[in-house]
Amino acid sequence: MIPVILSGGSGTRLWPLSRGQYPKQFLPLVSGKTMIQETLLRLNGVADLQPPIAVCNEDHRFMMAEQLREIGIRPSAIILEPVGKNTAPAVAMAALSASSEDDVLLILPADHVIADTVVFHEAIRHAAELAQQDLLVTFGIVATAPETGYGYIKAADSAIGQGFKVAAFVEKPDVETAQRYIDSGDYFWNSGMFAFKAGCFLRELEKFNPQMLASCRQALAAAKTDFDFTRLDKAIFSSCPADSIDYAVMEKTDKAAVIPMNAGWNDVGSWSALWDVTGKDQAGNAIKGDVLAIDTVNSYIHSSSKLVAVVGVENLVVVETDDAVMVAAKDKVQDVKLVVDQLKALK
Ligand code: GDD
Ligand code: MG
Repeated sequence: MIPVILSGGSGTRLWPLSRGQYPKQFLPLVSGKTMIQETLLRLNGVADLQPPIAVCNEDHRFMMAEQLREIGIRPSAIILEPVGKNTAPAVAMAALSASSEDDVLLILPADHVIADTVVFHEAIRHAAELAQQDLLVTFGIVATAPETGYGYIKAADSAIGQGFKVAAFVEKPDVETAQRYIDSGDYFWNSGMFAFKAGCFLRELEKFNPQMLASCRQALAAAKTDFDFTRLDKAIFSSCPADSIDYAVMEKTDKAAVIPMNAGWNDVGSWSALWDVTGKDQAGNAIKGDVLAIDTVNSYIHSSSKLVAVVGVENLVVVETDDAVMVAAKDKVQDVKLVVDQLKALK
């Protein structure tokens, strides 16, 4: 099995810590290791793993190489995208780089937390078994709230191996639809991780978006390789259609399967999600750096360079960095990306 690390996201909802040049997956947000390092380290102990393939923006190549080196991992390739085209082309590049069509790829977003690695490893084993049967395997998390940032998976009735065929996959439904799914109790969230044979994925992509596959093949054929880096051809890749694996393939394929997984999964997509997964004091505060919190509850306070003092507040997020301070209500942190949008508009 070949781990494929998807690392092209910009993590704007974790501004001001996560920046264009330094997005969240390269930051030590939850432990002393960066999110990318954690993603690979939590695979320690999984049997039959080949060296990973990383796919990231070319601006991040040295950070990627250095962070892998720090944990003693030599990737088989670091594929560099001159522009982001979302996850379907990124996965296609990894699949096209595999040495055999029968290699099973384990697709891993670089920015998740998984608390229970024993359960996670078991799910990987079960997923690999289904991937061998030419299925595109998802890892399903029991859905508990009408989140609109996730894909929703309905499992078919009859079991296959340790999982189920997928009866329906719906990417990012609106909130009313998501609420119906939650009320029905029949849906999993898609965790964003996948397992499938390289050839199996490519054949499905060929069916649903032949133009994307053709662009990917051409951009890879024209790529320049130096050291571990594979630099995709900019002119060709720029004209590749952009789409996520979820819309481009998973919603359309009839070969999807789901392995239910209860491993303490969390997509660290916002400051409140980070508060959820960070150790807290008795008042429910997650504190990083030089912080003085008085009469403060259920807050996330992060200082990078200065003393940050907060008094008499609750459910607040305060993040201080060298050049910016952000203060937000904890239930409004999804809108932090609007700050980034406005800053971009000003440039
Ligand atoms: N190489 C590369 N290139 N990686 C990318 C690109 C790209 O253009 N765009 C995103 N990624 C990486 C991100 O860094 C992240 O690690 C992963 O691919 C998933 O992308 P997101 O942009 O975070 O996807 P999402 O969160 O909106 O949705 C996906 O994940 C949800 C769970 O967290 C979907 O798979 C949903 O169905 C799923 O519920
Ligand atoms: Mg995400």
